[in-house]
Amino acid sequence: MVDYAALFSRNLPRAVSSPPGSDAQTRYIFSVTNAVPEVIDSDEYLTAIRAGLESGGPNSLAAYPPTGGHVGLREFVAQRLASNRGFNASPDDVVITDGAGGAINILLDSFINPGDPVLVEEFTYMGSLRMMLERGAEPVHVACDEDGMLPDALEEAINTLETAGRRPKFVWLIPVYQNPLGFSSSMQRRRALLEVAQSHGIPILENESYADFQIDGDPLPTAFSGLSDQGDVFYVSSFTKLLGCGLRVGFGVLPPGVREALPQVNAQNLPRRGVSHLATMMVYEYMREHEAEHIENVRNALLVRRDAMLSALEENFPSFCEWTTPRGGMLVFVRLPEGADTWATLAKATERDVKYNPGGVFRADRDRNNYLRLTYSHNSPEEIREGIARLAELFREEGYFEG
Ligand SMILES: Cc1ncc(COP(=O)(O)O)c(C=O)c1O
Repeated sequence: MVDYAALFSRNLPRAVSSPPGSDAQTRYIFSVTNAVPEVIDSDEYLTAIRAGLESGGPNSLAAYPPTGGHVGLREFVAQRLASNRGFNASPDDVVITDGAGGAINILLDSFINPGDPVLVEEFTYMGSLRMMLERGAEPVHVACDEDGMLPDALEEAINTLETAGRRPKFVWLIPVYQNPLGFSSSMQRRRALLEVAQSHGIPILENESYADFQIDGDPLPTAFSGLSDQGDVFYVSSFTKLLGCGLRVGFGVLPPGVREALPQVNAQNLPRRGVSHLATMMVYEYMREHEAEHIENVRNALLVRRDAMLSALEENFPSFCEWTTPRGGMLVFVRLPEGADTWATLAKATERDVKYNPGGVFRADRDRNNYLRLTYSHNSPEEIREGIARLAELFREEGYFEG
């Protein structure tokens, strides 16, 4: 018998705690920002794959993809960012990755040493938080209001770290339809945060994975990447939420000049480890044909689902609980009374076929579990109403609705 435990690498990621029940399969899935299932049209996807294969000839799949990924898709991304996000990137600085998560992985691998502080929002997307914790980084949460991270709190957090001789590696922001808090930062707030970060020479990571998911909110202000001319903002986003999480196609945009210096991007073997060229071809061909119509279909589907979730919360949760009213994106963040423990209750919820995310998964210390995040992109409006009623019943039985 081989003792595999004795053979494991000493560099395995550190263990990060997950709430009991998080692996369960349920009918009511309020725990993942999946793409909306009905907008995936298999015939159109197959047509896009065929177009991709035919346009490139047999070499398109026979050869390894270029470093940085599909050239047409990189140009397409650069054009979209210029027209939608006020950000003029060179296609050479766009790197196609396996989802936004792939781009985040490259950045963390390239920059993070164990013990490095990273300044993150008060609650931040659990996936990148987990990646930081696995690498031994120290995410430092900074207070937020409904306009995003608070510039004064950011300044204070940086000063505290610098006084202790520690230098934060990034100011890490999700400034549009923030996951899980739901806010989109105004232009004024963006400028104020940029000023603080720049005055300390700390780069910003902006994750705009939800920029295409406006429901009925105001148009989004220019991206941080379009506001700075200092080459100090990294951008990541994805096609996964729009076209399908299973596609695993996202991208990063590096500040000018950084690409050449990043071993994780330039390694000779990167094309062999990168994202599937077939998937990127499909995304490219499909988006060129169907972008506007697809985004409109997603918007309409999310509008109905969001409204179903908000009215189900209104009907089933007491008024002293609070929740966000998202104007875009795919999630609602809920606050229960102090003492409620959504981390502990998740396993019971899954026994009733409902899954959600406890507040603690968005926090480095796994605290603040009187909060929970509910996503509405996956289930139908009818299922959303059923699932929320089931959840309310459980929380009532647990005594969370006693005020
Ligand atoms: C803010 C944010 N960033 C990144 C991701 C990961 O996206 P992808 O599936 O493209 O890796 C998610 C998925 O939920 C997310 O919410």
